[in-house]
Amino acid sequence: MKILVVGTGYVGLVSGTCFSEMGNTVTCVDIDQDKINNLKKGIVPIYEPGLESLVLKNIENSNLNFSTNLSDVLNKAEIIFIAVGTPMGEDGSADLKYVLEVAKSIGENINKRLIVVNKSTVPIGTADKVKEVIQNELDKREVSFPFDVVSNPEFLKEGAAINDFMKPDRVIIGTDCDFAIDKLKQLYAPFCMSHERFITMDVRSAEMTKYAANTMLATKISFMNEIANICEKVGADANQVRIGIGSDSRIGYSFIYPGCGYGGSCFPKDVRALIKIAEDNHYKAPLINSVEEVNNVQKLVIAKKVVAKFGEDLTGKIFAIWGLAFKPGTDDMREAPAFYIIKELIKRGAKIQAYDPKAIKEARDFYLKGVKEISYVNSKYKALENADALLLLTEWKEFRSPDFEEIKSLLKTPVIFDGRNQYTMLRLNEKGFDYYQIGK
Ligand SMILES: NC(=O)c1ccc[n+]([C@@H]2O[C@H](COP(=O)([O-])OP(=O)(O)OC[C@H]3O[C@@H](n4cnc5c(N)ncnc54)[C@H](O)[C@@H]3O)[C@@H](O)[C@H]2O)c1
Repeated sequence: MKILVVGTGYVGLVSGTCFSEMGNTVTCVDIDQDKINNLKKGIVPIYEPGLESLVLKNIENSNLNFSTNLSDVLNKAEIIFIAVGTPMGEDGSADLKYVLEVAKSIGENINKRLIVVNKSTVPIGTADKVKEVIQNELDKREVSFPFDVVSNPEFLKEGAAINDFMKPDRVIIGTDCDFAIDKLKQLYAPFCMSHERFITMDVRSAEMTKYAANTMLATKISFMNEIANICEKVGADANQVRIGIGSDSRIGYSFIYPGCGYGGSCFPKDVRALIKIAEDNHYKAPLINSVEEVNNVQKLVIAKKVVAKFGEDLTGKIFAIWGLAFKPGTDDMREAPAFYIIKELIKRGAKIQAYDPKAIKEARDFYLKGVKEISYVNSKYKALENADALLLLTEWKEFRSPDFEEIKSLLKTPVIFDGRNQYTMLRLNEKGFDYYQIGK
């Protein structure tokens, strides 16, 4: 099939590449000229395991192409996916300006039947807006072409995006158009070989499904963090409680690790957007508001533990940070707890020595650009030299079994603040460390 994917971020590039891997002819479009120039040369702008080799392979066999010019390529496609960003607007709602810009371009250039599929996470009713914008442009041009607007929310996880896309738990298609359902069923069939994972529903329910899924996961995280905070007060161990409750199959083990809060490009903005959607519809959504509130406080729990140990004024203190990305397997630092913790420590006079396997460039060039109090090193042990304590903020695999003797010899004082509860089972206190974790 001939496919167009607009927006070559995490979702667009992974989706386009995976469609091309199944033999479709895909063109990925972006307004970012540098990004497209690089992609044409096989330079992938994000870190996502397995992505680069698939991109190179499919450029080579001409299944994967790149363009900045939607009007040039639009009418060669049967299906167009909109996968542009929907960042948080000032009032917390999802900002639809990029989605509607793409819709306008489609309306200005379409000259045959097209299935328009919205993959971006968008508020309920957006498909109707996209339809209206395209129709307005067709009316201005005084032409008429049939087109369908379908919702196909994406559930991939950064860090495991290729695997998630290739073997999805489910493919949600929101539309009442049988022609579009048939086409998308054909397109997704190679991804759903072993099970029937194709679920069709009305377009509004499909849009809502994405927000409900992300908010459910965020709720589990905030719930467990709240339990961890209570555990600390009453002398219980949140990790043992986690194992105790996770063994109940109705609860399960996933998304109940106590930690320093959820971050990333999706949960914070999608929880906020759902709160706004509820408010706009005269519903207060008290539970979902609390999920966000708990998370905002949780992001700073580790910084508070540092202050409790070293005092309010951290002038002259140096902290080693292991992990900047919001989770392992990605270079994405959007809403990462590390960002908030580093800012808080620097505000109190501290200096930071940071190491992350993939996110240093993101931090240095963008999120912490120009911040003089932070230096970056290329090995986890280097970050420890002369530091007063180690803060572990992202659970990368290479941090799982470090050499604790080496850590002790490099730190000025053997103090570890574990924001991810990675060493909970290791009895570090008995090994001579001052070991602080969440929920104990
Ligand atoms: N990142 C994730 O893990 C994830 C998972 C599921 C769903 N989503 C959703 O998917 C959407 C995209 O997320 P992302 O993380 O891939 O975003 P991103 O910010 O990484 O990428 C968006 C891309 O769209 C491009 N763009 C903006 N306007 C454009 C236009 N008019 N024409 C062409 N390109 C344009 C930008 O240049 C950028 O490259 C969002 O709605 C997000 O909520 C993201």
